[in-house]
Amino acid sequence: MLGIPCIGAPEQGGTKVNIVVTGGAGFIGSNFIYYLLKHHPEDHVICLDALTYAGNLATLEEAMKNDQFRFIRGDIADRDIVEKLFEEVKPDIIVNFAAESHVDRSIVDPGVFLRTNIMGTQVLMDACRKYGITRFHQVSTDEVYGDLPLDQPELFFTEDTPIHTSSPYSASKASADLLVLAYSRTFGLPVSITRCSNNYGPYHFPEKLIPLMISRALADQSLPVYGKGENIRDWLYVEDHCSAIDLVMRLGRAGEVYNVGGHNEYTNIEVVRTILRELKKPESLITYVTDRPGHDMRYAIDPAKIHSELGWLPSTKFQDGIKLTVQWYLENRFWWVNILEGDYQNYYETMYANR
Ligand code: NAD
Ligand code: TYD
Repeated sequence: MLGIPCIGAPEQGGTKVNIVVTGGAGFIGSNFIYYLLKHHPEDHVICLDALTYAGNLATLEEAMKNDQFRFIRGDIADRDIVEKLFEEVKPDIIVNFAAESHVDRSIVDPGVFLRTNIMGTQVLMDACRKYGITRFHQVSTDEVYGDLPLDQPELFFTEDTPIHTSSPYSASKASADLLVLAYSRTFGLPVSITRCSNNYGPYHFPEKLIPLMISRALADQSLPVYGKGENIRDWLYVEDHCSAIDLVMRLGRAGEVYNVGGHNEYTNIEVVRTILRELKKPESLITYVTDRPGHDMRYAIDPAKIHSELGWLPSTKFQDGIKLTVQWYLENRFWWVNILEGDYQNYYETMYANR
């Protein structure tokens, strides 16, 4: 057994594929674990997660009951832990979700973003080289392309759009992407990268726009919209992101980048108004606050490559996905109230007190 904290079913015989999901106690990683357990019940899924403020073991409670799943607490930037995991688990595929993921936090304290997002990726890939794998998949973001202007709606990010980052978060993710492609070219490591637009859905941490607005509206608290609320994001329901990653890591070409998004562009104020309508709460809760420094104006993905090569298309439109999401937050109050009652209370004070 590993000399590190470990919960869940131990390895059993008859494995099809051993998949290590890093960052699986966070928003998208946990949804991906449930996606794998449902769609590939033959695979073994091992989650490696440091359980930072954004990681929540309660999210994986149902997965823990599945013999094909196992949780290991550990830091992807800790070489000893990562190598022990590779020695014992012998993964075929690594999917790297583990990251510091919140732009606002990266503006306050960039250091940890560089350590986890860049160095952590390097440590994982070094282990992949040392022990051998069939695929290292990096979960990246459309934010590596910077932003598009509001007055040219015909423009979209393609895989050939130059990297042009705005925040320490996006710079750290872009750095990791470059390193991943360098390990492919220099060492022949079989890698792939997906660059996805903004996700939403169950288990989304209530510091990000959609869950923050839902949880605050339900408590009749003010809803802090940055600037004029005119910035545009291209929203993708999290399950559609999971299906895209699953396809790319198994069938996508090694050494390639695939953009993931579904033409669901909305301004922030449209998103907030939609949430208020769903919850039957008044628009008087909206408060315009000082803009985010360096705030990207518009993100918009051209998903032609993943569609033509792998047949991927999103299945959930924003107007349906937002209803499902609001419903999930209504039915799972215990999940987010537990978070709000913890350290996160101090976080809101620190981030929004002087805006
Ligand atoms: P999240 O913040 O909800 O979860 C991150 C997870 O990583 C947490 O469980 C945390 O405990 C874990 N983690 C952090 N540092 C770690 C470390 N050093 N070692 C091990 N585990 C660590 O993030 P998310 O929104 O689920 O995003 C997951 C990935 O998807 C990130 O790489 C992010 O850049 C990317 N992405 C996110 C979005 C989005 O809209 N949320 C869109 C595109 C891409
Ligand atoms: P966010 O969920 O932080 O994702 P990202 O910055 O990665 O796109 O923010 C989505 C958009 O919502 C972004 O334009 C910033 C804006 N926003 C607000 O207006 N108010 C808020 O309190 C937050 C967290 C975000």
